[in-house]
Amino acid sequence: MDKIVIRGGRPLNGTVPISGAKNAALPILIATLLAPGEHRLSNVPRLVDVSSMLSLLGRIGCPSLVHGNDVRLDTSRVSFCEAPYDLVRKMRASVLALGPLLARCGEAHVSLPGGCAIGTRPIDQHLKGLEALGARFELSGGYVHGHVDGGRLQGAHIQLDVPTVTGTENILMAAVLAKGESRIEGVAREPEIVDLARYLQGMGAQIEGAGTDTLLVQGVDTLTPAPHSILPDRIEAGTYLVAGAITGGDLTLTGVRPDDLTPVLTALRQAGCTLTLGSDTIRVQAPERISPVDLTTLPHPGFPTDMQAQLMALMTMADGESHITETIFENRFMHVPELNRLGARISVDGNRATVTGGLPLAGATVMATDLRASASLVLAGLAASGETEVLRLYHLDRGYENLLEKLQAVGADVSRTADDPRVRQFPAKTDAQAV
Ligand code: EPZ
Repeated sequence: MDKIVIRGGRPLNGTVPISGAKNAALPILIATLLAPGEHRLSNVPRLVDVSSMLSLLGRIGCPSLVHGNDVRLDTSRVSFCEAPYDLVRKMRASVLALGPLLARCGEAHVSLPGGCAIGTRPIDQHLKGLEALGARFELSGGYVHGHVDGGRLQGAHIQLDVPTVTGTENILMAAVLAKGESRIEGVAREPEIVDLARYLQGMGAQIEGAGTDTLLVQGVDTLTPAPHSILPDRIEAGTYLVAGAITGGDLTLTGVRPDDLTPVLTALRQAGCTLTLGSDTIRVQAPERISPVDLTTLPHPGFPTDMQAQLMALMTMADGESHITETIFENRFMHVPELNRLGARISVDGNRATVTGGLPLAGATVMATDLRASASLVLAGLAASGETEVLRLYHLDRGYENLLEKLQAVGADVSRTADDPRVRQFPAKTDAQAV
């Protein structure tokens, strides 16, 4: 396993180009199953998760060609309606195959994703919505086996109990080819869902309400492939904004959508950062002193849980105490003990973390447990004095395109090396479930 070696204490200055959004690319890639033919997608980030999704599509019978950030996919034929365990265990977003396979083939066999490092990650709402559309499921052998009586899904009125992001996406992808109208209430409102809806509409789907808590879908008989460019990754962007703030730097992000980041920008301004917004740029200038910020993660348009660990890293530098409450996942504070190894003083009581800022961070060897926790440790290492090694890099490779190159281009002293097994003996652990 590789590791990142960071020699911290250097302010980051310059320009960072933002890549396409992982959490939009994944549903959009699997949505290509809804329209037989050749699809052309652009601004697709080069990530391990994207490769995993393309592998899954290949297993299903849909070959792809990747050239830079452009992907061509041929979904003319579907030979297997299955998302196997060996792929799902690496990327839980494979569960998104349920809706499109049921809509395209009338059946789906998807390995249960199981829990992961940040929580149990149930899919009850996915199944509830798809059953309302006419799917029947049985669980056996660790798989969800679904089929559609009569071959075609039927429009329905669905009320979700939880605004689940991938649950909303699964149900939407099934509803667009169902017979008749579907009204789906209590849905998630994330920008990635709006991007998926825009892609589906480009292929001929009839969808109203994307970005609100209610979707109205008129099912159509067929969809036709249409080109689409993936929207910018707001979480990657937020991560680099924190990189500028935590190192006392001055960074300008390009190819970004400021409106997708409002709660993060608000928190950074409260921390004392100066932010300058353009139509597709954001400049962050770090303050002399970071101010403490209290925040609570919420479904969009609230503060995103995927930025919680990164803001916590910044709050370790603040003058005073910050309180961070995590309301989305039950176990998303695993970066805390690792940040404390770098000299932070963070205590956790249930879903609430208290960060006592102002203590100097000093480099150490730390270990990532999930994607955003990994980012948090890199950010802290950039601010810490001395050398920090972040182990288990495969987490970062899942969600941050060209991370090292982008950091090096703005002055970070970071390098990647093969992890020396003598460095730190810790009990062998199974791969943390990809989140
Ligand atoms: C998506 O995961 C994202 N992943 C996550 O990003 C993100 O953290 C999360 O949404 C919340 O914003 C992708 O889009 C691929 P949820 P998802 O279903 O859809 C509960 C990252 O770092 N729930 O919205 O799996 C669940 O337990 C990843 O990029 C049910 O109870 O998250 C959780 O508490 C991490 N029943 C809450 O809803 C269900 O059927 C939100 O989960 C589904 C979810």
